[in-house]
Amino acid sequence: QGPCDIYAAGGTPCVAAHSTTRALYGNYNGSLYQVRRSSDNATRDIGVLSAGGVANAAAQDSFCAGTTCLITIIYDQSGRNNRLTQAPPGGFSGPAAGGYDNLAVATAAPITVGGQKAYGVYVAPGTGYRNNNTNGVATGDQPEGMYAIFDGTHYNGGCCFDYGNAETNSRDNGNGTMEAIYFGNIKVWGYGAGNGPWIMADLENGLFSGVNQHYNAGDPSISHRFLTAIIKGEPNHWAIRGGNAQSGSLSTFYNGVRPNVAGYNPMKKEGAIILGIGGDNSVGARGTFYEGVMTSGYPSDATENAVQANIVAAGYSTSGGSNPGGSLTPGSSISLRATTPGYTDRYIRHQNDNAITSVITSSSSSLDKSDATWIVRSGLASGSCVSFESRNYPGDFLRHRNYQLYRQSNDGSSLFASDATFCPQTGKNGQGTSFASYNFPTRFIRHYNNTVYIASNGGSNSFDNATAWNDDVSWVVSQPWA
Ligand code: AHR
Ligand code: AHR
Repeated sequence: QGPCDIYAAGGTPCVAAHSTTRALYGNYNGSLYQVRRSSDNATRDIGVLSAGGVANAAAQDSFCAGTTCLITIIYDQSGRNNRLTQAPPGGFSGPAAGGYDNLAVATAAPITVGGQKAYGVYVAPGTGYRNNNTNGVATGDQPEGMYAIFDGTHYNGGCCFDYGNAETNSRDNGNGTMEAIYFGNIKVWGYGAGNGPWIMADLENGLFSGVNQHYNAGDPSISHRFLTAIIKGEPNHWAIRGGNAQSGSLSTFYNGVRPNVAGYNPMKKEGAIILGIGGDNSVGARGTFYEGVMTSGYPSDATENAVQANIVAAGYSTSGGSNPGGSLTPGSSISLRATTPGYTDRYIRHQNDNAITSVITSSSSSLDKSDATWIVRSGLASGSCVSFESRNYPGDFLRHRNYQLYRQSNDGSSLFASDATFCPQTGKNGQGTSFASYNFPTRFIRHYNNTVYIASNGGSNSFDNATAWNDDVSWVVSQPWA
């Protein structure tokens, strides 16, 4: 069973079902999305590993080996052909040729679903998908529901990271001409409790966190790594719901009448579908999308609760791309994956004796895989910490010198031992592990411009920059690439 089987059983069937990670119907066995590679502009449809299952990420990896792939189409699993493609210019133009928006880089959001590797849709500002000619999507004041799974740690204050119903001419056609899920921390229109990000409804000329046009205390800041976000609307009634896509149930953050300003009752929905942009093709926002649907009819809370249970059971996880679950036990081989949004496909590897990060996939060369693999040793300077011996240069270790990391052979000195010893602690951004330098304990292994350092959180070196420090010093200990 998939989410759309649950919506259908509840009498509110999916009229659009988009995902690059998994089938949204128990019997769906078709294509999830299409990628295009830059080497020869060839395209390839990416399907599922089995009917109702997870995306065949390995098919993408092999098709895209040695080149860059973009996501060109996100297919509609509902059978209505409401697919999403590169968004055209509208009230605002995108950065690509002809004023179109950019397409997402296909490897930029790696995760696992049920232990299988999959890729989400990584929306950097300027990226957008749209369908202005849909079939079966709500128009006017017709009832509809929608959910999406986002990366709750990847957002900004630009307008507008949306998924849902928008104008069919890509322009701002006035209050009530949209009904979409918004996620981010822009405060120009509505906002909720705390500093954000918030799930809000983009109803055009306004992001609504509740009945009031601006502040509504009932809409909390919410930033689960995998976030379930829900908006639904019917005549003079709508709701915001949300929860953790990895565990637990949904909460209702608003459930009531249409906003207390003119133009939103009745609604004037037009039935286009957008992803990553505002209704007028505003392209300032960032975010990551994994799956989402739109329904015909106003889904019951019970139906949505069953969908949430299905999502939790699917098992979204960040642990280790295709290689989850490495161990810091001495003797085991591991790879160290970055967790900074946009860099989560990069691993610490040595190259020309320097420690840098590189994108490593299952189709990388065996040399790259070996360079990105480390054998955990009891810390050379302290048994309560660890050292990392090179997989393909036995006797060489990861060590810092002038705060930069290198692969070097152990000269047996106590300075080398200290420089090559790192003390693991919980990841500073809540993911994975951070590694404090043994002899500079306020400095942690950090990537900066794809080079690896021991960096303090703010300081005189460029690589001590406080921006993104928490993310840059947090690493997922993954199973070894080699
Ligand atoms: O409602 C917020 C935004 O305002 C819409 O997404 C966009 O169409 C307009 O700029
Ligand atoms: O990396 C900081 C220090 O710089 C190291 O301890 C030492 O090897 C070098 O002088």
